[in-house]
Amino acid sequence: MKVVLSGVRPTGKQHLGHWIGTLSNWIELQQQYQCFFMVADWHAFMSEYKDLSHIKEYSFDNVCEWISYGIDPARCVLFEQSKVGAHLELFLLLSYITPIGWLSRCPTFKEQIKQLKDKEINTYAFFGYPVLQSCDILLYKTNFVPVGEDQLSHLELCREIVRRFHHLYKKQTFIEPQPVLTPIPKLAGLDGRKMSKSYDNFIALDEEDAVIEKKILSMITDPARKKRTDKGHPDICTVFAYYTIFKKEEKEDVRQGCMSAQRGCKECKKALADSFKVFIGSRREKKKELMKKKDYIRDILKEGNIKANAVASKTLEEVKAAMKI
Ligand code: TRP
Ligand code: SF4
Repeated sequence: MKVVLSGVRPTGKQHLGHWIGTLSNWIELQQQYQCFFMVADWHAFMSEYKDLSHIKEYSFDNVCEWISYGIDPARCVLFEQSKVGAHLELFLLLSYITPIGWLSRCPTFKEQIKQLKDKEINTYAFFGYPVLQSCDILLYKTNFVPVGEDQLSHLELCREIVRRFHHLYKKQTFIEPQPVLTPIPKLAGLDGRKMSKSYDNFIALDEEDAVIEKKILSMITDPARKKRTDKGHPDICTVFAYYTIFKKEEKEDVRQGCMSAQRGCKECKKALADSFKVFIGSRREKKKELMKKKDYIRDILKEGNIKANAVASKTLEEVKAAMKI
């Protein structure tokens, strides 16, 4: 069976952007592939090192959420990166062969330093972020990596590292992974910018009903539509964008109603909020139950860590043999 691996940094609560960009994809992929889904805590530490007090809590929270949204722990290996020692060992070995120029050319590096100014991530470790990500992928002989567009450069770097390794040591040790892109590259947040924790414009995957309603009602719409009787322009309205993603079957009706001013924005938002209350609500309640079963979740991760360790340490041995270490 072909292998899929993906990871999430446990730096906060997950939101609809994660659902669209990552989690919904995972749920499809688990039907056909051997999937490894990882809590990327070493990666989280790279940006959060000043205050690590919440990472454990978010790891637990995120894993419960994956399961409540449909990740099946019986089919997939759910594991914690920091519990599989091979990741760090390979991180050093691949660092030997990764030219500095490849990393400094990575667009995400400069971009993130600019965006996360207060985190001071102009560090040695953060510079190597894509190398560690390559280790995550390569240790499991991953064929497919579901990623957002922003991560494509990391995957390309990973493929370059593979080719350089094979060229240097003349032994086919790794598999060159392929990206699996999500159909919707970026989900807009409540204010129309990309949905993101740092913009505080998100709807959490465990949001309470009243908050869902309040947040959706606060969404920006067509700015030119000042009065109820003004005709709307759905194509520039974020609420409409949500209909096209989450409620495709109503999309055309909404478009017609909006453009002819038969549909009001408040009613349009209310209907959207109601469907999110159903969608998020059922999963939120399931998650609440899971959060109470601490031992059950811990056992899933323990078992996942054992399975991940078995695969990863075998690959690491192959790497060392190829390098004659
Ligand atoms: N860099 C990814 C992100 O920020 C998280 C991640 C870490 C990852 N290791 C990975 C994703 C390996 C895919 C494969 O979303
Ligand atoms: Fe947007 Fe709906 Fe208002 Fe049209 S009616 S502008 S689609 S919120």
